[in-house]
Amino acid sequence: MALERTLSIIKPDATRRNLTGAINAKLEGAGLRIVAQRRVRLTTAQAEAFYAVHRERPFFRDLVTFMVSGPVVAQVLEGENAVARNREVMGATNPANAAPGTIRKEFAESIEANSVHGSDSAENAAIEIAFFFSALDIVG
Ligand code: CMP
Repeated sequence: MALERTLSIIKPDATRRNLTGAINAKLEGAGLRIVAQRRVRLTTAQAEAFYAVHRERPFFRDLVTFMVSGPVVAQVLEGENAVARNREVMGATNPANAAPGTIRKEFAESIEANSVHGSDSAENAAIEIAFFFSALDIVG
């Protein structure tokens, strides 16, 4: 097993409902350490750049509008197999399909307002972490 880092975002539906602490407790309970964290209000250009991979998807415009609708909390999570472990504790993208006890099952409002984002691979994690943080911001 490898010590990994992954990028997590607590989305506007969750910050609006004051769920940052509850979500952090789930992450820490899953054995992930929050080694960097910042609350930011994304601009439209920043949200478009972050989700550029989804640019051609039918939900892209709505997703960008949602992601700029309130503050988000970007985080670097560290732990053994952090990418997979975070995806496990997040649950399926659509909360209707998420397993009991997962963040999305307990907190998500819809497939779009699904409370959290997590990197889908170690390769994308490195790209996504660099989008929000510099090396000096990450304190392991
Ligand atoms: P996330 O893991 O942040 O990656 C892309 C986001 O697009 C996803 O979570 C959802 O919030 C959003 N989204 C909205 N509609 C869909 C859809 N039909 N399929 C996948 N993702 C969707």
